[in-house]
Amino acid sequence: MSEDLLITKGNKQEQYESLLPQIKGLLEGEPDLIANLANVAAALREQFNWFWVGFYLVKNDELVLGPFQGPVACTRIKKGRGVCGTSWQEEKTLIVEDVEKFPGHIACSSLSKSEIVVPLFKNKIVVGVLDVDSDSLNCFDETDKLYLEKIIQLINL
Ligand code: SME
Repeated sequence: MSEDLLITKGNKQEQYESLLPQIKGLLEGEPDLIANLANVAAALREQFNWFWVGFYLVKNDELVLGPFQGPVACTRIKKGRGVCGTSWQEEKTLIVEDVEKFPGHIACSSLSKSEIVVPLFKNKIVVGVLDVDSDSLNCFDETDKLYLEKIIQLINL
């Protein structure tokens, strides 16, 4: 497929519906995990213009920064720490409307206001997380959860 992403306007659901098949096309036939994570992060940032989109991967019982789009970020997060480490520990997607109200939130940037973290599962074990930060409060909801979970299922971990 062409490497140009078709950016859609419309409501959030319409934007995801347009993006999903394009991400599927980007990933098809490419076995390299880093290449695929990089393209997923880029596609999400291009469509939604979020402040930060990226992956952390579990290595030696820590989350280590992987492919991302946005400002530089902290490189290592322990299990149970911050939103990412809590999502990993609880093995579930976390939506944080206001990061200042999340106990233990790790502020990589003071501009980040709300966040969603989606765990990546391989054989039912968390092998990483997708982390998305917005510079607006209350940016993420159940629609994001639904579609981001669908998108990460397309990644061959
Ligand atoms: N805020 C995250 C840390 C990662 S950065 O946002 C990129 C957390 O609390 O886990």
